[in-house]
Parts: sequence; C-alpha cells; structure tokens
Amino acid sequence: MPDSAPSFTLVDVPGAVPLLGHLGAFRKQPLEMLTAWWRQHGDALHFRLGTRTLYLFSHPDLAEEVLVKQSDRFVKVYDPQRPTGLALVLGNGLVTSSGEVWKRHRRIIQPIFHRSRIATMADRMAQVGEQRIAAWEHHAGGTIDIAAEMMKLALEVISQTMFSTSMTQHIERISHALRVSIKYAFDSFSNPLFLPLWVPTARNREFHSVMQFMDGLMYGLLAERRHSGVHHDDLLDLLLQARDEETGEGLSDRELRDEALTIFAAGHETTANALAWTWYLLATHPEARTRFHEEIDRVLQGRTPNADDLPQLPYTRALFDESLRLYPPAPAVQRKAATPTTVGGVSLPEGAFVLVGTYNLHRHPAFWSNPEQFLPERWLDGERPSNRYAYIPFGAGPRTCVGLHFASVEGPLLLALIGRRYDLQLAQEKVEPYLMVTLRPKGGMRMTLHPRKIPVASTV
Ligand code: HEM
Repeated sequence: MPDSAPSFTLVDVPGAVPLLGHLGAFRKQPLEMLTAWWRQHGDALHFRLGTRTLYLFSHPDLAEEVLVKQSDRFVKVYDPQRPTGLALVLGNGLVTSSGEVWKRHRRIIQPIFHRSRIATMADRMAQVGEQRIAAWEHHAGGTIDIAAEMMKLALEVISQTMFSTSMTQHIERISHALRVSIKYAFDSFSNPLFLPLWVPTARNREFHSVMQFMDGLMYGLLAERRHSGVHHDDLLDLLLQARDEETGEGLSDRELRDEALTIFAAGHETTANALAWTWYLLATHPEARTRFHEEIDRVLQGRTPNADDLPQLPYTRALFDESLRLYPPAPAVQRKAATPTTVGGVSLPEGAFVLVGTYNLHRHPAFWSNPEQFLPERWLDGERPSNRYAYIPFGAGPRTCVGLHFASVEGPLLLALIGRRYDLQLAQEKVEPYLMVTLRPKGGMRMTLHPRKIPVASTV
C-alpha cells in the first residue's frame, strides 16, 4: 500500500441516530458540523449520512495522500451511468468525470488556460468589469447585494473570455437557474433520502425546467458558433475543433454541452464567492481597506488596471490569498476510493467517500499562526504554512483547478478595478457563511457603495 503519511486514529463521530446517522445535524449546518467535528474529534474522523459513511480528513498529510500521492486510487464520486449531485447538472464534464474521459478532456481544455493567453484575457476581464460597474452609478450612496453583483460580473467575464459572447440579457435567468440547480445537486447528494428525479414533485419539476433553459443556452451557443463559421480562438473553438488522436472523432454534442456548462459554472461561482468574501473582509477591517486603497491609488493613478499592474499590487494579491484561506470557495474536496487502500494508517474500503476538509486545513492551528485572524500581511512577509498542503484553495495533484491562473489574475484585477472607484461598507449586521457546493454568504451580502475620488494620473 503506498501510504507514507504518519498514522492517524480514525474517530467515529458520536451521536448517530438509527437509519439517519448524522444527517439531521449535517443538513441544518453542513459547514459548522464539518468544523465542529474536526475540532472535537481530530484530523481523521468518519460520520454517517443515512447509509453512506463519509471520512473527513483535515490534516495536510492526509490531503496529500488522497489528492497527490494516491491520486490514482481515488476517483470523483460520480457515476456517469447513474448521475447524482453535481453530475445531474454538469453531466460528465471536467469537474465530474474520471479516468480516460477526464484525461482526454483535460488535455483538450488545458491549453486555453496557458499563462500567455491569460494576459490577453485580462484586458477583456477589465473591459467587462468597467462595463458592469458603470451600471452601479445609479446605486451610488445606496446599497447593493455585492454577492449577487459579483456572480453577475464573474459570469459575464467567463462568457466573454471563454465563449466570446455576452450573457448580460440572460443574466437574471442564468443566475436563478444555476442557484436552483446547484442547490438541488447539493441537497440530493448530501441527503440519501432525497426523492429521485422522475418523481413529479414541485422541486423536481423546477429542476427540469431550469436545466432545460441551461441546455437550450449551451446548445444554442454551440449551434451559433458552428453556423457562423467565425473563429474566435476561445474555449468554444477549442472544444469544437478537438479530435481524438486515434479515431479522429470530435466530441459529441452531449460532451460539448457538458464541458461548456462545466466551465461556465465552475468558472464563475468560485471566483464570485472569493470576491464577495474579500469585500466582506475589507469592510470589516478598515485598516486593511485603507492600505488597499493606498496601494491601488498609488499604482494605478486612476487608470483601469491591466495584467502588467498585478506584480505592483502585492497587497491586493495578499488580500485575495488571505480571503481564499479564510473562506475557501470550495471548502471540501470529495473523492471516492476506487480500490481498498490505507491513508495515514486509516483503512478505507473500496467505494469509501472521502472529504478533504480544505476549510479546516486552512485554519489548522498546527500549521498557521493566529489561524482565525484576517492577516493579509502573512502573505507579504513570505510566511507560508510549514506544510504546503495546508493551503489548497485550488485543490492539489492532477485534479488541481484548471482555472487557477485565470482566477489568480481575475480576482486581484477586479478587486483593484472596483476598489479604485468605490469604498464598500457593510450594510447588514451579520454575514454567515453557508455551504452549498461552494461557500456563499447566506442570504446575500448587502453593502453601501461610496464613490471614491479617483486620483488624477501623474504626468511624468
Ligand atoms: C477563486 C476561484 C476558484 C477556486 C477557489 C477554484 C477551486 C477549485 C478546486 C478546489 C478544484 C478541485 C476540485 C477537486 O479536486 O475535486 C477546482 C477544479 C476545477 N476548476 Fe476551479 N476554482 C476557481 C476558479 C476556476 C475558474 C476561473 C475556472 C474556469 C475558468 C475553473 C474551472 C475548474 C475546472 C474545470 C475544474 C476541474 C478540473 C479537473 O478536475 O481537471 N475554476 N477548482
């Protein structure tokens, strides 16, 4: 068995009730339970949701074993023949597929995210950012839901950079469809007693209806591109031109739909949440906000930021990194053991469900000083956790986020672009994190938009 991690003792979380196990507590407060169980019972534990046992690993050595060293022994939890959870929405795209299909599709998609392309995409990101915040002028002095705004902004960025199209006119319907479908996916996955899709409940009907809308949108995009014959050198072109090395065959319409929708959803939800949490942290830490504004005013002198500015904005970058630590948009990474194996001395049967607890790793007191405190400076001083797998907002190993560089440019760029014009202050008392595949602010995040005086560019 390839298991070099130190030994851990697996703790059985007490309080399971017959049939349901820990489902009651987990459904009410998934994030809180994952954290509370870890704090009470340690880095390796298991609990039960109905008949399904889940292993929660919250130590970097265990994360490294599952995601990196033994990555060939762990697959995604979805079965293409019987889709559940996120696979009900995304089908068999890059996030949900495993094995040869995943390998081949990753090879096709990866080049679009090459660093050299991302610099060009940064200009498009900035254009989209300027356009969207121009619409905020009517709200100046008033409040907006910054979480919803960041979703719309990130959605338009992904549409323009990956599909060379604007989704502005559909934005409300898309946001609604994704919210409904992702909540459905999460609830159906975390609740084994969830009624199957064919039962005609109101909720199932609503799910079918939003999926029909999203399918129409994706197939429409593909058809339009095929018929236009115009090349944009974007993700859509890359997917349509992909050919199997052996058979010469292209991707099927269903495969194209799955990959397009996957990038569409995975490419904006996460970044949007990361941005919303960064605004929250800035709003609750005035000294950080002052330093942030000083940096962008000094470097940009009132200009729209571009990719070349980013190395000159280390504090802005540190804010984003620290926000990803405290509020990782993907707070847990799921895997299934493809074969019986041992991880850190813990035996796992074939088919065991594993959660790598990113949220817990990022607050682990053995690897971070003042883990609960917002300290962007820790990234400036070069402090890094003693174990690199204590910080994995983008995952680790072969399944590391394909959009890592994209998001690492998009996040700080949009922060600088917005922070240059607006000072965002919290307009509600309490903001609670809520786990629904990604980590969102429960019920949104209202903020007041205070326009800032933009410095005039210096004439040197
Ligand atoms: C702050 C922003 C982001 C965060 C925190 C994030 C986080 C993650 C994480 C943790 C994974 C690994 C999941 C696993 O191992 O099971 C992942 C995978 C993925 N992400 Fe991201 N992501 C972000 C932005 C993006 C963007 C901008 C895109 C696309 C434009 C994207 C597309 C994907 C895809 C397609 C995968 C699946 C990769 C594979 O399995 O080969 N993500 N992301």
